[in-house]
Amino acid sequence: MVAANYDREVTGYDASIIESLVTQTLFMKSIASQISETEDAFAYTVHALARTSEANDEDTGNHILRVGEYCALLADKLGCPDKFVATIRLQALMHDVGKIHIHHDILKKPGKLTKEEFIQMREHPDYGAKILGAHQRLTMATEIALTHHERWDGGGYPNRLKGEQIPLSGRIMNLADQYDALRNVRVYKPALDHPATCGIIIEGDGRTMPGHFDPQVLAAFKENRQEFAAIYERLKG
Ligand SMILES: [Fe+2]
Ligand SMILES: [Fe+2]
Repeated sequence: MVAANYDREVTGYDASIIESLVTQTLFMKSIASQISETEDAFAYTVHALARTSEANDEDTGNHILRVGEYCALLADKLGCPDKFVATIRLQALMHDVGKIHIHHDILKKPGKLTKEEFIQMREHPDYGAKILGAHQRLTMATEIALTHHERWDGGGYPNRLKGEQIPLSGRIMNLADQYDALRNVRVYKPALDHPATCGIIIEGDGRTMPGHFDPQVLAAFKENRQEFAAIYERLKG
């Protein structure tokens, strides 16, 4: 091929250049496949850790996978960079990893929690952040674990953060988590359908109120809520 495009004979020098190009290309290919293997192993470990955190919890099926997809959808619609979208899709899975420290009698309690039980339950974001730690690859996961129960109006926990004090990943996760929790049967409530869930998130029901959510995240939800229903259907069970 090279010889055909050349207007002179291929020399030994040309051949050595081509050889070194081939060697470099093969080297780059092997590095690329090693990187993709490492990324696969990282994603696998994240899934395993996320599943572990569900061991004591009630059966929430594919909840962790669905919230990752809702978060990625919202982040994309909010115009976040592709890297943010990919990171939240994976790292949102570990939002409740701190529940591993909460007794299963509390997690699976069919009735209302007592004040004391509530206090314990509200510790799971701090536990989660501690488990995930400070590694730079897990920055967003730690952020989400710590802030996914904070509310835009400042009424959430554990630190009663308000507005933009809450990282965007936590604001996105909060809405995604609530949509999915409302859609599913939980020990303390029946499952709701998509229109009823949207009604509660968009208009409020006294317990969940629109003021709990970042207005921009809420607007993105409103506009794309049919895609939430599609994700739920695709990943239910
Ligand atoms: Fe949580
Ligand atoms: Fe959750």
